[in-house]
Amino acid sequence: MAISEADFHRLVSFVKQKYGIDLHEKKQLITSRLANTVKGMGFGGFTEYVDYLLKSGTGDDINALLSRLTTNYTYFMREVESFDYFTGTILPELVRAHQRDKTLSIWSAGCSSGEEPYNMTMYIMDYLGSQYSQWDTRILASDLSLEALNKAKAGVYQLPDTIPEKWRKQYFVPVKGKTDQYTVAPKVKQNVLFRQFNLMDPIQFRRKFDLIFCRNVMIYFDQPTKDALVRRFYDATVPGGYLVISKAENLSPDTPYGRVATSIFRKK
Ligand SMILES: C[S@@+](CC[C@H](N)C(=O)[O-])C[C@H]1O[C@@H](n2cnc3c(N)ncnc32)[C@H](O)[C@@H]1O
Repeated sequence: MAISEADFHRLVSFVKQKYGIDLHEKKQLITSRLANTVKGMGFGGFTEYVDYLLKSGTGDDINALLSRLTTNYTYFMREVESFDYFTGTILPELVRAHQRDKTLSIWSAGCSSGEEPYNMTMYIMDYLGSQYSQWDTRILASDLSLEALNKAKAGVYQLPDTIPEKWRKQYFVPVKGKTDQYTVAPKVKQNVLFRQFNLMDPIQFRRKFDLIFCRNVMIYFDQPTKDALVRRFYDATVPGGYLVISKAENLSPDTPYGRVATSIFRKK
């Protein structure tokens, strides 16, 4: 099943406008990943599908579309350098700054299936040790994909060898009858609050953040979309707060954040 130039453009602008995701070089991917969805929904071709989607597509239709077109690829201990900076510099500083209210405000924006915010929780638990119970360190973890969020909430994973053995025992529970699967321990799960959130929408959370992790998400956005999102992140960050991106990404030189290390930015 082929997609015409016109339908391709209608679909690409719809996704770009609503979700920031830039697919204009992904014609091949769209055709191969969506052909079955289009057939499965009973449409004769892409024109009918795009007509329907743009006029009366439901939330479920959009979720199905996005889960075909975006990559939720993630894993524990990904880009461990950012976790090293988190635990070596950011956490000690935040813990010092929040001695009174004992509250950290952290957002994993584009958390996919949850490995990133769970991973951060493990670092926080290790760092705070016996003090952990006195702190509110709950992480807001958001993504566009409901499928990814459901996986995150279930918290069942095959663990890579890079997870320290100590953590495997401390922060996971083996799934009965499945030697290679583990569930995130309840105490870790309790520290993460999963929410569906489209990063193209205004950021109107109750609190500002000490730290925003947004790694491997903006790779899908074009420069103006990225710049606008970074400005919204900036407004949602407390003075002295941090933004962590991935080493595959960069911010434009005129970003309001100051760069403090590779992929690590700070609000002045
Ligand atoms: C590759 S994953 C990154 C997961 C994790 N941060 C990491 O670095 O491993 C990218 C995630 O960004 C999400 N995403 C893409 N566009 C988004 C948008 N407009 N709003 C919210 N999430 C979005 C996708 O659903 C996907 O789960």
